[in-house]
Amino acid sequence: MSERAERYLAEIGIAVYKRRGFVAEAASVRAEPAEPGPIERVAAEPQPSVTTPEAWERLAAEVRACTLCGLHKTRTQTVFGVGRRDAELLVIGEAPGADEDRQGEPFVGRAGQLLNAMLRAIGLPRSEVYIANILKCRPPGNRDPQPEEASHCTPYLSRQIALVNPRAILAVGRISAQWLLQTDSPIGRLRGRVFRYGESGTPLVVTYHPAYLLRSPLQKATAWTDLCMVKELLQKRA
Ligand code: URA
Repeated sequence: MSERAERYLAEIGIAVYKRRGFVAEAASVRAEPAEPGPIERVAAEPQPSVTTPEAWERLAAEVRACTLCGLHKTRTQTVFGVGRRDAELLVIGEAPGADEDRQGEPFVGRAGQLLNAMLRAIGLPRSEVYIANILKCRPPGNRDPQPEEASHCTPYLSRQIALVNPRAILAVGRISAQWLLQTDSPIGRLRGRVFRYGESGTPLVVTYHPAYLLRSPLQKATAWTDLCMVKELLQKRA
């Protein structure tokens, strides 16, 4: 394992023990990418992709003014998305929490700090990716998004996906993965393989939500293999 990988594994809290010239890793982690499993294709509404600052601003303004579901009544503000508009990697989470609702930016709380470290671990600082959520408004009390709320919000996300036109999508957490893939399979069955999303067939990898990883640190090892899979996809020439 490279020193760099070791440094970042330590940063996200995966202990690496070195003894007598070999490396044993906590929780039997493999630092190499897992073998991509079968590729599955997932349909999504085709979206025109005319990437101009005006198209972004129009979309952001629509989101800011959105009253399509009841969440607009309890939000402090909408949480549109953040990052490079031409990012190679699009990270899609679930919904804003209290910190995000207050600051207007996705993944700024404790889970966000861990997400940043996970991304750095594969050489992608937060500033290099685009980060968005299924929902643009916080569900009160951090309850799960309701299908009707996700349905209203999905056209906004689809337009973001079309505008960014990423080379890979990372779905973080069960809610994001199940919604994007339109399945109720448990996340343990969705992670560790590559799906193809939408008309463009964008590779999509699922991993655990950083908030879950904060509660279940042993699973960080598994998440690391998912991140390696993303890195490998991005390194492949298109
Ligand atoms: N969890 C998410 O899924 N998204 C955020 O923006 C914050 C926490």
